[in-house]
Amino acid sequence: MAKKKPEELRSHRWYGAEDMRSFGHRSRTKQQGYAAQDYAGKPVIGIINLWSEANPCHTHLRTRAEEVKRGIWQAGGFPMEMPALSPGETIMKPTTMLYRNFLAMETEELLRANPIDGAVLLGGCDKSIPGMLMGAASMNLPAIVVPAGPMLRGYWQDKTLGSGSDVWKYWAEKRAGNISDKEWGEIEDGIARSFGTCMTMGTASTMAAIAESLGMTLPGASSIPAPDSNHSRMASLSGRRIVEMVWEDLKPTDLMTTRAFENAVRVAMSMGGSTNSIVHLIAMAGRAGAELDLDKFDALSRATPFLCNVRPSGKYLMEDFYYAGGIRALMVQLRDLLHLDCRTANGKTLGDNIEGAKVYQEDVILPRNKPLAPEGGVAVLRGNLCPNGAVIKPPAVEPHLLKHSGPAVVFKDYNDMNARLDDPNLNVTKDSVLVLQNAGPLGGPGFPEWGQLPIPQKLLKQGVRDMVRISDGRMSGTSYGACVLHVAPESFVGGPLALVQEGDIIELDVAARKLNLKVSDAELARRKAAWKKPAPKYPRGFGLLHSLHVTQADKGCDYDFLEGRAPIPEPEIH
Ligand code: FES
Repeated sequence: MAKKKPEELRSHRWYGAEDMRSFGHRSRTKQQGYAAQDYAGKPVIGIINLWSEANPCHTHLRTRAEEVKRGIWQAGGFPMEMPALSPGETIMKPTTMLYRNFLAMETEELLRANPIDGAVLLGGCDKSIPGMLMGAASMNLPAIVVPAGPMLRGYWQDKTLGSGSDVWKYWAEKRAGNISDKEWGEIEDGIARSFGTCMTMGTASTMAAIAESLGMTLPGASSIPAPDSNHSRMASLSGRRIVEMVWEDLKPTDLMTTRAFENAVRVAMSMGGSTNSIVHLIAMAGRAGAELDLDKFDALSRATPFLCNVRPSGKYLMEDFYYAGGIRALMVQLRDLLHLDCRTANGKTLGDNIEGAKVYQEDVILPRNKPLAPEGGVAVLRGNLCPNGAVIKPPAVEPHLLKHSGPAVVFKDYNDMNARLDDPNLNVTKDSVLVLQNAGPLGGPGFPEWGQLPIPQKLLKQGVRDMVRISDGRMSGTSYGACVLHVAPESFVGGPLALVQEGDIIELDVAARKLNLKVSDAELARRKAAWKKPAPKYPRGFGLLHSLHVTQADKGCDYDFLEGRAPIPEPEIH
């Protein structure tokens, strides 16, 4: 393959010309203490670093950025670290999802506006990887992801604790009166023992695996626990590799093809990955010019066995997954279902990269003849309640609820739910269907993770731990239960979910992929005519921009003006 010449580097426009502007670029780079031989004629590598004290999952990324730089220097590149918005899932309000597209825009524009030849994308907390990859795909300079890596297992007494999943579990027990305040405090002390992302198969672990399946990381990178020294070495090797990728001009759209997205869906589904991954994958595919929609997602999920015994749908944690062989070993199990000829960041094919990988613990990564479930982790539903789709995670549902019919208990928004859920007079039984309206991309606002509605306290005390819940919101990838999510169109824009009334019968049939409201068309039309459009949530600012441009869940919730691949001119340098 013909390699680029130094004068063909994008950064050459900034540093290589002989004019007043390039004098400024060079003298100001020297101001930082770099001599001409440090950067002249070398690939400039932007490190998009999502380190922030407002994001505990990324505590180690300052150190990792230095390790990435070590690799870049050694390979003859010039690192340029650029901090970007860090969507800290546990801290940021109202929801990080409101800011995923902000990060995507920031990534794209940081790369465009600066003398960058290639990028290392350093982050991992839920929206980090999709946001950065959306921006990187749009800018389409060579890029590699260094996933932040999962934290170590949590512990309480003799039990392991999983991020999120065990919070929901023990919170329900506390509300049922089975856990004391002291024990709750002990769980708080033991559940997050190191830096790194959630160590369940939540959105962060799913999106890291997706980045690797798309070919956008080094082989095996997505499974390494954050505190493991292998993680540091992976960071440094990624720094080395991105320099070569620039010379080879190996760009995101060379890797993030329609076939690579099919691999990513397969891998995510075999892992019982987060429902959030659907929204992110559709948005990322849109940026890369690849084809992916809800129906394709469902078809691939139906034809992919669920092999990964990791919480919330399974038993173990990401640390166990790594020791069991990690993602390369999992991909070996799926070999016949994957497009092995897809190229990846190291220049080799996916097939080359998984060669020789082995499963060391068959209870964690299950063999094909003993899957956790024959189908993948997510089902796409259709029906008069969700004409443009809704999703559910069948392996996380109590089996008797996979086909269910019951009367609706309707909450008009999150505050209404909080105010009434535990009221002893709430007219609810274990057969009721809890409905939460106004939790979508516009109504939340920002598509918050409210979709795992808590079980009403009086049912918890009767021993109920799962029931059918429906919303136009998302749920944390670490959650579980019979939660129908992402109902589209959302209630805030007048979707059928807005028309549900107390006592209406709702029918869910996961095997048939159906979700229906047993109310006549004439009655629904009458209710729709009486429906009043809610007042906008934001009078100005970023929230208003979001409100004016966000697409619905089935389209990936990107902004309409960021979609597609229409070329944007390079900045003039003058
Ligand atoms: Fe950051 Fe879960 S809170 S990955």
